[in-house]
Amino acid sequence: MTQDELKKAVAEAALAYVPEGEIIGVGTGSTANFFIDGLGTMRNRIRGAVASSEASAKRLADLGIRLFDLNEVETMPVYVDGADEVDPGFHMIKGGGAALTREKIVSSVARRFVCIADASKKVDVLGRFPLPVEVIPLARAQVARALAALGGRPVWREGVVTDNGNVILDVHDFKIPDPVAVESEINQIVGVVTNGLFARRGADVVLLGTTTGVQVLQR
Ligand code: A5P
Repeated sequence: MTQDELKKAVAEAALAYVPEGEIIGVGTGSTANFFIDGLGTMRNRIRGAVASSEASAKRLADLGIRLFDLNEVETMPVYVDGADEVDPGFHMIKGGGAALTREKIVSSVARRFVCIADASKKVDVLGRFPLPVEVIPLARAQVARALAALGGRPVWREGVVTDNGNVILDVHDFKIPDPVAVESEINQIVGVVTNGLFARRGADVVLLGTTTGVQVLQR
């Protein structure tokens, strides 16, 4: 099976977690795109969706799914999204697609986070994938120095501007054995908007695409 086939399989499995008549939180990225396409097939059975990026909002709208602003929504049963890495404690690195801030905000309103990922995303310790950090443009160099002082090697993702008008620093060579502590520590750096560690609030369910089928990992 190709990586895309694994992504499609987990995205389709995630449809089973979508309750009828509800508003669904929707992530961003290639795996989330397969989920959005699946959601399109049941658009008459859900109330609508809250998107975590402009790209996902457009894909949802193109499929005729009604979009809600998060400010109109008090709670959602489920948020479905991909990840760049997931560890055995269901902590994740996200933000490879630069949508981490909205992903963190939208997922925080959902009662359940369903992570959909192909098996290559499963790691023992987070940090092989460079950790994305969204930063206010004025603070880029100063935040980079602070991240280097923590032991990482920040690299500016040049040419990328987030949906919020900010920039991304990707922190390379940064093993993260204690993701909850590191998430908080990086968020304390002045000028950081969000970092891509989803650890304080990790996934509740991980649907992992393997060559032998979709594995369901539950907390
Ligand atoms: C988007 O900013 C990310 O958090 C994605 O969820 C993550 O990068 C996974 O993307 P893919 O599904 O494309 O691998």
